[in-house]
Amino acid sequence: MRKLSRNSKDGIIGFAIGDALGVPVEFINRKELLKSPVTQMLEYGSHKVPKGCWSDDTSMTLATMESIINNKIINTNDIADKFLNWFRNAEYTATGEVFDIGRTTIQGLAKYELKLNKASECGENDEYSNGNGSLMRMLPIAYYCFSKDLKEDEILKIVNDVSSITHKHEVSVLGCYIYVLFAIELLKGKSLKEAYETIRKLSYTKFSSNIKDKYKRILNKDISKYKLDEIKSTGYVVDTLEAVIWVLLNTKNYNQAVIGAVNLGDDTDTVGACVGGLAGILYGIEEINIDWKIDLIKYNYIKELCEKFDNIMQRLFYEHNNILPDYFDRKKVIGKIKILKGDITDCKVDCVVNAANESLLGGGGVDGAIHLKAGNELLEKCKELNGCKSGESKITKGYKMNSKYIIHTVAPKWYDNSVKNKEKILENCYKNSLELATDFNIKTIAFPCIGMGVYACPLEIGCKVAIDTVLEIMQKLKIDEQYEFDEIVLVCYGDDEFNVYKKYIDSLT
Ligand code: APR
Repeated sequence: MRKLSRNSKDGIIGFAIGDALGVPVEFINRKELLKSPVTQMLEYGSHKVPKGCWSDDTSMTLATMESIINNKIINTNDIADKFLNWFRNAEYTATGEVFDIGRTTIQGLAKYELKLNKASECGENDEYSNGNGSLMRMLPIAYYCFSKDLKEDEILKIVNDVSSITHKHEVSVLGCYIYVLFAIELLKGKSLKEAYETIRKLSYTKFSSNIKDKYKRILNKDISKYKLDEIKSTGYVVDTLEAVIWVLLNTKNYNQAVIGAVNLGDDTDTVGACVGGLAGILYGIEEINIDWKIDLIKYNYIKELCEKFDNIMQRLFYEHNNILPDYFDRKKVIGKIKILKGDITDCKVDCVVNAANESLLGGGGVDGAIHLKAGNELLEKCKELNGCKSGESKITKGYKMNSKYIIHTVAPKWYDNSVKNKEKILENCYKNSLELATDFNIKTIAFPCIGMGVYACPLEIGCKVAIDTVLEIMQKLKIDEQYEFDEIVLVCYGDDEFNVYKKYIDSLT
């Protein structure tokens, strides 16, 4: 079972790749596609755009994420403002070009632009305005509702308001609601089968029976049992949702799911995107075909937006569970931190952290002691690593050291006035080292007083940064990755360091 990760890049990058795979073959029918199925990113197909280019589905998803990042709540007017910024100024686009926008979306945004009403009242409300134009931008809402652990009626209210910016009819709202609930179940770590069972058991009392009836093949029957030729993949929200859940339940990994989705034909970018979002959450970004990740236009831009979005989601999660770093149970977490006086090369831990310099080729202090003990193989290995920027961390084996691993990190030079944000850089030394350690399942790790020797960081500052950062990252990893260290040893060479560390940590309990 993969680590339950709440990183939104799993779902959002998964979504964007499904979108980009579908864009070049949008509107092509299934018979055509089954003759020569899509298996990779294509270019200049139905839309004259390069490979890896995503469409309005991803643009409006990113716009929604940015609104939540800025507001930390769901503000439908602000979301609509960002949609207008996309539509009028091509913000949040892959190539600076807006394409593939739906009629109902344009009508809703036009009404809002004329300020005829507040955004959540501008959506079209007739039964012929039930394209998948709001379904295709619901994934951020699922993350938001999950992070706040909202109840069904609270989720429905948000889904209704956000969908109603452009699609106000109940059929669209119910489709979005089912999709969001399904995503939330997957975010909780449920299996596909459990997630599907959960959404089928709900009663959807707020919807009339004739609206619920539209979704009977999903809610009352088992959609996965229908044959391929009974599944439509048009832009009608019911067809799209049926296709999405049918594909997911009939495939076994991310790549299979999005290829299956896109080759259904018709509204291939939206079906591909909606499948990719859920499959991304379920299987994780590491399962996605490497070429598709390389080909995705503005991959880093999307990933950075996800990181900002995750910070807000984590904050909402901490607040909901009342475990803000200011409140979490310090005694329990601090109990795992040990302050030791002595030579770090004597520590019997999984990993020792080295206070290195950017060359990684050894030096004095801790660096010298570790290289001396580890032996020449360490130096030979470090020559291959091409150095390390300050604030970053790189890992090698321990060689002749007692520890299995050595993580090399570089503090900022406190005496160098050209260096900005020295404390942030020093914080990153601890943060990056601990996060790197989790990739190697390191459970006990020893840090020296990084930066507080040759690099002249004042003891009080260095000590506070060290202990505060270690505490916060331990908590963050425990919540987000269910990853716990057994022991973190902070090694002080001299009495001064030892006394400052002991005094500070005692003041925290
Ligand atoms: N074990 C534990 N702590 C040690 C040891 C050791 N064997 N040797 C030194 N220290 C302590 C120092 O007393 C200081 O408190 O480690 C802390 C960090 O000092 P430095 O090793 O000088 O590291 P830093 O301040 O980050 O400067 C890095 O110094 O050694 C060079 O190559 C290194 O250029 C880099 C720079």
